[in-house]
Amino acid sequence: METRIQRIAIVTGGGDAPGLNAVIRAVVLASSRHGWECWGIRDGFNGLLAPDTCLGEPVLRLSLEAVHGIGHLGGTILGSTNRGNPLRYPVAGAGGMAEQDRSAELVGLCRQRGFDALVMVGGDSSMEIAACLQRQGLPVVGVPKTIDNDLDRTFQTFGFDTAAGFATECIDRLHTTADSQHRVMVVEVMGRYAGWIALHAGMAGGAHAILLPEIPFDLEVVADAIGRRDAAGRRHAIVVAAEGAQPLGGERARLAAPGGGHAERLGGIGAWVEAQLAGRTGKECRSVVLGHLLRGGSPSAFDRVTAARFGAAAVRALARGESGVMVALGGQEIGTVPLGEVAGRSKRVPVDGDMVRTARELGICFGDRVLPDAPQSVMTPA
Ligand code: F6P
Repeated sequence: METRIQRIAIVTGGGDAPGLNAVIRAVVLASSRHGWECWGIRDGFNGLLAPDTCLGEPVLRLSLEAVHGIGHLGGTILGSTNRGNPLRYPVAGAGGMAEQDRSAELVGLCRQRGFDALVMVGGDSSMEIAACLQRQGLPVVGVPKTIDNDLDRTFQTFGFDTAAGFATECIDRLHTTADSQHRVMVVEVMGRYAGWIALHAGMAGGAHAILLPEIPFDLEVVADAIGRRDAAGRRHAIVVAAEGAQPLGGERARLAAPGGGHAERLGGIGAWVEAQLAGRTGKECRSVVLGHLLRGGSPSAFDRVTAARFGAAAVRALARGESGVMVALGGQEIGTVPLGEVAGRSKRVPVDGDMVRTARELGICFGDRVLPDAPQSVMTPA
């Protein structure tokens, strides 16, 4: 049964990911079939909570023309921010910066604008916000986005495939230079506290060692494995380090300036591993940080299609009167899961799962001391 929706809004929050524009386009096209008006909120919720900070109209009508030809473009035509969480909105106070809950005000602003429902595209923080707005009476459907692929209850988020694909291409290129110069190349990739990008790109790119946040590593183990590889006449090695990887008994590498919506900014593990491995192996080592390059560029075919399916599914959910849910990929089909089951949870690489097991069987080293009955890391891949 159709609900009496007339006008919906869409917002893209947190770090951008390839496929956001494909979601926006899908939401606009699909909602137009119901005769709904679709509006976009600029720069996360800043279009409503801090309109003066936005360039252009802070809340804009998304006509069919406005989304024409954007499905293959990276970024988001609406802009995004990870500084405008309405539950913990940064405000300047007498004693410095403080945080304020502006969620009730936000729901009021949505009502003033006549928004009957909201499609919220984002990562784990966005799903927490979506759950809160829903509890306050605003119907919300979440769409899972992040290159990190760390959202729970969906097989995959859009953005991840593009990021992992690009990281793979970079690793492919590093093989030839590392091989020519008999070097160890350390590749640092994003992913926060989950190692999905490192694991997928590392396996696809034929890395010899992969350092994951989920498996504390010992560089002596990695150095030994590189030594065995050297002894076998394989003079180069590729080590992929997830930005959140952590040495056994040590700390994650963090960047000095916090900033942004994340409690901590991760980064620097690649350079540290480079220096440590140079000392332990005596080999020439170099490191490269892929960083925000992983968030840029056009979405892959998979991400475009998944984003389009997510956007259309969000509209379908609202049309049948469903809200308080996130659209999710489960196997081949798109379904919905309650926001309460997603918010505040994260999906990390299962250390005893098939991917890690397969990687070990291929000889990839994770920097841990594998159990005697587990396949030994011999680092034999070419
Ligand atoms: O969550 C996406 C992500 O790109 C993480 O992989 C990374 O740690 C973080 O965002 C970087 O955030 P920022 O763009 O604020 O530096």
